[in-house]
Amino acid sequence: MKVTIVFNNFNLSRDLAGAWGMAAVVDTGAEHVLFDTGSRGEILLENMKRLDISPFQISKVVISHNHWDHTGGLADFLSVNPAVTIYAPELDHDLVFRAQGGGAEVFLVREPVQVVPGVRTSGVFVHPLPEQALILETSSGHVILTGCSHPGVVNLVLAAPAPRYLVTGGFHLFRSSPEAIRAAAEGLEEAGIELVAPSHCTGEAALEYFRRFFDRRFLYGGLGAVFEV
Ligand SMILES: [Fe+2]
Repeated sequence: MKVTIVFNNFNLSRDLAGAWGMAAVVDTGAEHVLFDTGSRGEILLENMKRLDISPFQISKVVISHNHWDHTGGLADFLSVNPAVTIYAPELDHDLVFRAQGGGAEVFLVREPVQVVPGVRTSGVFVHPLPEQALILETSSGHVILTGCSHPGVVNLVLAAPAPRYLVTGGFHLFRSSPEAIRAAAEGLEEAGIELVAPSHCTGEAALEYFRRFFDRRFLYGGLGAVFEV
């Protein structure tokens, strides 16, 4: 499987446009799944184009949670390709209306659900707000994609059974104390995670801490990052 980060505010690439938010594309070899849509559709679509991913390749869209920096690109995406199935914990009424009007199938999910073979949702965590992660089954172990990790990145990672290979996405530690950042790093270590590639709302202090803590097991998870798993 191949995971490509197509939208992110954490950006070291010159050819791609960084903006606040998160989106990734999972290519299973048979199907393409879009996980979140960033905050702006025109940036999402332009980045996908530059990364050689056509919106028409996408058959499924999974939304981590109903925040603008994850759903902001959805309407523009659907105006290009409405022939998708959407899995979201909840969505703005307008977005649901527009998606269904365009012909998309919308599932407001709570329990874990298989999206395509080898790719499933974590099930929705409800505190402090409804959010889900995406779990990929790979030959190296489970890969966990997070949107913002409001329920805690360790909780989302533990939703995937061991072995746990890689977690990438927002870790939501940008307003966290040094103690909370350390606890998250130690929690991921205890969960047996092999590789971490934090981005989006992880925050500079946490990124630096994780870089030192995980050393060679810390990977760039920003815009344009590609993981062959
Ligand atoms: Fe976010």
